[in-house]
Amino acid sequence: MKKIGMILALLLTFVACSGKQDSTKQGSGEKKVYKIGTDVIFAPFEFEKDGKYVGIDIEILDAIAKVEGFEYTLHPMNFNGLIPAISSSQLDGAIAGMTITDERKQVLDFSEGYYESGISAVVSAKNDKIKSVEDFKGKTFAVKKGTTGSLYAEDHQKEFGSQIRYFDDSPSMFQEVANGNADITFEDYPVIAYKLSLEKEPTLKIVGDKLSTAHFGFAVKKGQNQELLQKFNSGLKKIKESGEYDKILNNYK
Ligand code: ARG
Repeated sequence: MKKIGMILALLLTFVACSGKQDSTKQGSGEKKVYKIGTDVIFAPFEFEKDGKYVGIDIEILDAIAKVEGFEYTLHPMNFNGLIPAISSSQLDGAIAGMTITDERKQVLDFSEGYYESGISAVVSAKNDKIKSVEDFKGKTFAVKKGTTGSLYAEDHQKEFGSQIRYFDDSPSMFQEVANGNADITFEDYPVIAYKLSLEKEPTLKIVGDKLSTAHFGFAVKKGQNQELLQKFNSGLKKIKESGEYDKILNNYK
C-alpha cells in the first residue's frame, strides 16, 4: 500500500510539473520579449508621470510594438549607460532621443530617423553677455555624459578655451547653468524648448540658432536584432500612415 501511495505521489508531482511547463510555453515563454533601454529624465521624449513612464519615445515604441505584435520590457538607465548595455547584449535595443551619428554607427544599427532634432546652446535667463557662438570664449560648459552635447563641447574645447563639467542627466546640467556654476549647456532643441514652454518664469534661455540638425533613431547592436529593427521601421511607417504618430506628437505640444 505504501509503495502504491509513493508511486501515486510521484506521478502527481510529475503531472503537476509538466503542467507547469506547458503553461509557460503557451504563455510568453516561446515569444521573445525584447529588453529596451531608455532614460526617464528627458521630457517630452521619456519621463515619469504619476508613476508611469510616458513621452513621445515611450508611446511610439508602444504603438509600434502593438502594430507589429511584439513584446518588450522597458529598462530605464542613465543615457550614458545605454550604448554599453546594448554592446554587451544586456539590452536588445534603445529608444532615448538618441541622435543618429556616424560615430555611433560603428557599434549600433539605427532605424529610420523618427524625429528631427539638433543641439541648442542654453544659458541662464539672467545672462545677457552670451548672445552667440562668438561669446563662448573662456566659458564653462555643463554637459550630459556621452551625448552629442558633450561631443560638441569636447570638439570645441580648444577653440573656445573652455572647461567642461559632466553630468548624468539633463536636470543636473540645467541646474548648474541656472545656478551660475557653469555658463552654457547644450541640449536637444525640442527638449529645451519643451522645458521652457512649461515654465512661467524660465531660469534658462536658448542662445542663437541650432548648432546642428540631426535625427533621433531607435538603436540595436550592430549586426544584431535585425528583425527588431525591421519591425521598428515597418511599424513606424504604419503609425505614420494611420495618423497615430501625429496623434502621439500632439499629446506633447
Ligand atoms: N540627442 C542627444 C544624443 O543622442 C542626447 C540624448 C539624451 N537622451 C536622453 N534620453 N537623456 O546624444
